Amino acid sequence: MTRIHLSKADVTGVEQDYVLDAMRSGWIAPLGPHVDAFEQEMCERLGVQHALALSSGTAALHLALQEIGARPGTAVVVPSMTFAATAWPVVYCGAEPIFVDSGDDANLDVGLFLEGIDTLQREGTTVVAAVSVDLFGRSADYDALVPGLAEREVPLVEDAAEALGATFGGRQAASFGRAGVLSFNGNKIMTTSGGGMLLSDDKHLIDHARYLSTQARQPVDYYEHTEIGYNYRLSNLLAALGRGQLARLDEMLARRREIRQLYVAALGDVPGVRFLGRDDPARSDAEDNCWLTCIVLDPTVVGVGPEQVMAALAAEDIESRPLWKPMHLQPVFAGARAFVNGTSQRLFETGVALPSGSGLTDGDIERVIGVLKETLGQ
Ligand SMILES: Cc1ncc(COP(=O)(O)O)c(C=O)c1O
Repeated sequence: MTRIHLSKADVTGVEQDYVLDAMRSGWIAPLGPHVDAFEQEMCERLGVQHALALSSGTAALHLALQEIGARPGTAVVVPSMTFAATAWPVVYCGAEPIFVDSGDDANLDVGLFLEGIDTLQREGTTVVAAVSVDLFGRSADYDALVPGLAEREVPLVEDAAEALGATFGGRQAASFGRAGVLSFNGNKIMTTSGGGMLLSDDKHLIDHARYLSTQARQPVDYYEHTEIGYNYRLSNLLAALGRGQLARLDEMLARRREIRQLYVAALGDVPGVRFLGRDDPARSDAEDNCWLTCIVLDPTVVGVGPEQVMAALAAEDIESRPLWKPMHLQPVFAGARAFVNGTSQRLFETGVALPSGSGLTDGDIERVIGVLKETLGQ
């Protein structure tokens, strides 16, 4: 019996050819033709003007926030329910992260988010940026968020680390903010083993972030620096891997969506089991990149909790995971300001992320479904 992973990298001969080409070209460096082409191809795919390939999504968020002006004495509003890397860069910049709770789909509660900003601005806090997260591959509600932030003159950074290929109203995830961020970490919908990208229509923002990401070297022959720099660029070899993955992205997206359909067909009618992000009839799985399919259990209806479900899956060598533990409940952020409505905590306590990788076969998914049905008493 082979182990079934949550979201394993899906790599084929296509990627091998790209990486071999990079190796043979002699461009074994954090720059080169594959880096340039990778940035260009991503811009074209997402409909954004400028892109900067980086060593991680975290690095991209760090540069985005720094460019927008996050610094000591300012605050950045961040969804509480996310992976910690959304919040780390706020702290790297010396700014204060302020957390806001979720709606039922786990994405940020736009009403609470905007109310929170109003409260902070009334109190005289400089809210220098707001970060949205397209959680588990489903876009936040930009129809409400974008005008709300514009009215309050707060720039948006879109953390689309989990959401490449998702859309909202026909627009691609990572294209909604003043800056957008992607991750190509090994567990994401496409990977460079580790990597990320910063996207923006603002040429100056990307040009300056590019300069900071390459050790802030002044354009002279000797090493001259007037600002603190970073070593954040993506290597040409990894950009080649990224181009191979990008060439297969539509195929991988289609498979993740098929996997979602298999789960929904088998478990959609089980009382007390809800699929995260499928409640709004106006939005479909075609807009979601289906990075992770997650279920939420109603403890008053289902006799088991997420721990039992995860334990039953683990006993069959199947990986699953709780939903992200909200940042306002993390020991490292104890005492941080938060606008809370209880939803993210409830989702954390009742949700399970299921194996969703595009390399999984129908047989693998049937194995997962079999364990789930048994555990849920079906
Ligand atoms: C929502 C979110 N933001 C940021 C990141 C950070 O990306 P990276 O691992 O590429 O630094 C991740 C995932 O790793 C993520 O899930």
